[in-house]
Amino acid sequence: MIYHTLIKYSLFLSQFTNSANSCCQQVQLHLYAFKIRKMLELTQFCMSRTAQALPKLPLPALRDTLEMYLRCMKHLLTEEQFNKTQHVVQKFGAPGGVGELLQSKLMERRDKQANWVYDYWLKDMYLNNRLALPINSSPVMVFPQQHFKAPIDSLRFAAHLISGALEYKTLLDAHALPVEYARGQLAGTPLCMEQYYRLFTSYRLPGPERDTLVAQESSVMPEPEHIIVACKNQFFVLDVVINFRRLNERDLLTQLEKIARMADSKEERLPPIGLLTSDGRTEWAESRSVLMRESTNRDSLDMIERCLCLVCLDDASGLELNDTTRATLMLHAGGAAKNGGNRWYDKPMQFVVGADGCCGVVCEHSAFEGIVLVQCTEYLLKYMMGSPSKLVRAASVSELPAPRRLRWKCTPDIHKLLASSADRLQREVNNLDMNVHKFNDYGKEFIKKQKMSPDAYIQVALQLAYYRCHGRPVSTYESASIRRFQQGRVDNIRSATAEALAFVRAMTDGKLGTNDAEKMEMLQSAISAQTKYTILAITGMAIDNHILGLRELAHELKMEKPEIFKDEAHLISNHFILSTSQVPTTVEMFCSYGPVVPNGYGACYNPQSDHIIFSVSSFHESSQTCSAEFVKILVQGLLDMRDLCNKCNRGSNPTEQRQGQKLERHTQTDTKWQSKPPARPTDLTKNRQTPPQVLLTTPGQTKAEAQTQTSSEESDGDSKERK
Ligand code: COA
Repeated sequence: MIYHTLIKYSLFLSQFTNSANSCCQQVQLHLYAFKIRKMLELTQFCMSRTAQALPKLPLPALRDTLEMYLRCMKHLLTEEQFNKTQHVVQKFGAPGGVGELLQSKLMERRDKQANWVYDYWLKDMYLNNRLALPINSSPVMVFPQQHFKAPIDSLRFAAHLISGALEYKTLLDAHALPVEYARGQLAGTPLCMEQYYRLFTSYRLPGPERDTLVAQESSVMPEPEHIIVACKNQFFVLDVVINFRRLNERDLLTQLEKIARMADSKEERLPPIGLLTSDGRTEWAESRSVLMRESTNRDSLDMIERCLCLVCLDDASGLELNDTTRATLMLHAGGAAKNGGNRWYDKPMQFVVGADGCCGVVCEHSAFEGIVLVQCTEYLLKYMMGSPSKLVRAASVSELPAPRRLRWKCTPDIHKLLASSADRLQREVNNLDMNVHKFNDYGKEFIKKQKMSPDAYIQVALQLAYYRCHGRPVSTYESASIRRFQQGRVDNIRSATAEALAFVRAMTDGKLGTNDAEKMEMLQSAISAQTKYTILAITGMAIDNHILGLRELAHELKMEKPEIFKDEAHLISNHFILSTSQVPTTVEMFCSYGPVVPNGYGACYNPQSDHIIFSVSSFHESSQTCSAEFVKILVQGLLDMRDLCNKCNRGSNPTEQRQGQKLERHTQTDTKWQSKPPARPTDLTKNRQTPPQVLLTTPGQTKAEAQTQTSSEESDGDSKERK
């Protein structure tokens, strides 16, 4: 109660400070705000004792992890590979062997550190990865299509969005975000909130061999804060606190209009330096050191690195916009010819507002997980829905100082670097093969009625799709949150279980002659195995983080690399051809990301009550993959799984029985897979001229759209490749 009153008072004060006239009044109000903040911090401190009391990430027993490793890999290896792996693993785990030594060191690390795997994991997952951030690392949230009637509308939308982001930042500064509690499996435990506090305060600094995640220390007194607005590849400093006063939405619109006018001036345009940030990390680190030779550039870089976030005012892409093209544009901005230079990929939060209504957020991933990004983005969209823009007319002329354009001194060397970055980005643009599909036949409610976990069911469907496309199972990554623990990020649910393989074979290989009841049993067994693994992962007992910890510790101790990490199975296990993640939303939007290996798929899904949004990505350069084909086969598999459930549950419920018969007539596809082998028993061969056309849904304008409208790895040998 006290806490909520304090928050309200703090928000009220920040608004009131905006309207204070004299400097004296403003200083007085800031002193009040300072005291309230202190009280809030104290209250938050007491409240967050629960969160601080979060347990440390447990360390699984060595034997359990090694046994599970063998179990996970057996069906992904040839017999010969597996026999060798079994031998290597036994040697590693033998009493008095290397494994025991490393495990004892890991136990010491667990005792000393808040989270024994966090640093290792961060470097392995992100900071060591040399691949360019767009597509390969930075996920995006795609907003509902906006319908801007005039250029001013997109600026109004941006002003409204910034206003919401500043309000959210006020909550963060006051440490006023309520502690979250787990939902779904093992619901109810408090979650670590640490990632939220990096949303607007961190920066991924490129390095020649490894990047650094720089975090600004939070300060109690408000500092002059600014955001960077990118417009026509130019970068502008938009101060959001002027004379101790936080700008309101009308001020923000005034400033954005000035920026748009300044960006229009062709004579003053500077080269698209942002393109450099879209390059490989080593290339960008080198270009940055060239830029740093000039003091003008150093100042500009400093302003960008210290900003709260970017707002990218994009030109219209000229493409026909549907879910797939909007996801694609959000992932790579269309290359240098479109908005590719209108980005700064090192910054965690880049809000994109396209003149053609293509809007969303691009996120640098090392600082936080997609779920945190979703929570923040949903807050902003709800803020915009809940407080429709007041800016009916254009903003009045204000005395605010004009935003500052960031200057760049460009030598011929820099021009050459820009040309190479543009070329490399264009290759990435040409290579991305996206397909976003809204599966409308059913959603998680149908699955829950089958008394199955929706997440596990969708994972089994993804296994079925891959097997039907390629005739084999592959190492699969599914992110599992470990925020139940201090500094928890994610571990991996290895969804390519032996049980899933048995099911997908039965559903695909007609010659096995499995009947429906047997298939249903296999489906249940696959779902049960997947659910059990999920529980292991979310309780910190999965194997990937543990194996990573053992490997990194051996490296740190300068030991000769143990055989287990040189073994082919270790490479295969970390080559995640299927990189999957559930990113659910409560507001209409969806998440997309790229594949993590050249011959892989990125498969992100957003389960809703009566539909599921899938965002599937792959690379055109791989002759083995095709996103549209994968989606088509995935949809077919989901229909087949539903039919199987309906057929097998018919006996128990007469209504469902009738439904089942109707559905059976409707699809009748199960037999298709039984009567003939998979369409392509080995890998897919592409036919780029005539890609199979699968539903590309362009949903009609939704409530959310209407309301948000304003008035008019390919990594080094053994590092992991995953999402
Ligand atoms: N019968 C009926 N209902 C069931 C069920 C069953 N056998 N099993 C689960 N359900 C219900 C759950 O109670 C839950 O209900 P709710 O919607 O009312 O909350 C719902 O189905 C969803 O549960 P489930 O499908 O099992 O998944 P989950 O929500 O527990 O999610 C993970 C599982 C692994 C995705 C989740 O734990 C996680 O880690 N999420 C984070 C992923 C992430 O980090 N993504 C971003 C990476 S950048």
